Amino acid sequence: MPNQLSPEKIAQLGLSFWGSKTLLSAIELGLFTELAKGPLDTAEIRRRLALHERSARDFLDALVALGMLERDEQQRYRNTPETDLFLDRAKPTYAGGMLEMANARLFTFWGSLTEGLRTGEPQNEAKTGGDLFDAIYSDPDRLECFLEGMTGISLGAVAVIAEKFPWQNYKTVIDIGCAQGALPVKVALTHPHLTGGGYDLPVVQPAFEKYVASHGLTQRLKFYCGSFFTDPLPTADVLVMGHILHDWNLEEKKVLLRKAYDALPANGALIVYEALIDDERRTNAFGLLMSLNMLIETRGGFDYTGADCQSWMAEVGFRETRVEHLCGPDSMVIGIK
Ligand SMILES: C[S@@+](CC[C@H](N)C(=O)[O-])C[C@H]1O[C@@H](n2cnc3c(N)ncnc32)[C@H](O)[C@@H]1O
Repeated sequence: MPNQLSPEKIAQLGLSFWGSKTLLSAIELGLFTELAKGPLDTAEIRRRLALHERSARDFLDALVALGMLERDEQQRYRNTPETDLFLDRAKPTYAGGMLEMANARLFTFWGSLTEGLRTGEPQNEAKTGGDLFDAIYSDPDRLECFLEGMTGISLGAVAVIAEKFPWQNYKTVIDIGCAQGALPVKVALTHPHLTGGGYDLPVVQPAFEKYVASHGLTQRLKFYCGSFFTDPLPTADVLVMGHILHDWNLEEKKVLLRKAYDALPANGALIVYEALIDDERRTNAFGLLMSLNMLIETRGGFDYTGADCQSWMAEVGFRETRVEHLCGPDSMVIGIK
């Protein structure tokens, strides 16, 4: 019946950027890091974050209504258990890196989504030529922000890969396009028999080595320097590609899969993980939106289903492939040579 229909869902989705930007600004201002030190009233929050009087109370109460803060009887604000654990910059569990990157870059770039849909062209720093990684990596602050962001977005999936994959059957692992090295670090911490490291562009080396050293793993994890379209890949029993293939067009995806296949020993494994779209392309909205994010960010990149990846792996020679769900929108495809 038409009178039972309501525009509420449409309006909610259409204006969801209000809530999103409110959270992103709270992170940018360091609100959760301040509140992790103890509950504060509006006046003290305003003083510490240099906020104007006009909207401070609405801003804080909006975060309460959105479930990101709590307010007590004395009108003092505190973090929720989740925002305290994941959005306090002083904690090792901080997971706001990706959201800082989203705030600093993607929020503005997504404003030109319509233009991207019409032209098929990226809408980020690369709009004036060049490539995503050149654009990000030419500025040290942006580089750091991006690499931390990647760690933030990957930590959940990486923890499940460390638990779920049969690492006891393998001795070495190299993460191809490793950024800070969240995956090799987590896997090496969980499985003391493993050695290996991460492969990435030369500019990433200091960030990788710093992150690895901060976990006391310098003796076991090494940086392998190179560019994966021009140089051969290093060899290990297990190679990993996390959020790599979606950056590139179909031909480039297959080149990378073929290079991984060539670099692996017989019976070696390739793990590809990202927000794989469900095979029916109906339910994993995050994976589909991630693919639109690849339109914004890259010249030819797109996300894909587990079945797509399995067929590309079979085409380059992997004898056995399987898809396993990790957590949230993330899954992995495992190919055995
Ligand atoms: C989207 S990030 C993924 C990082 C990490 N695997 C993760 O999932 O968190 C892509 C990575 O590929 C690296 N990369 C881009 N182009 C590369 C190239 N030509 N050769 C080697 N690495 C490259 C980037 O430096 C970056 O660390």
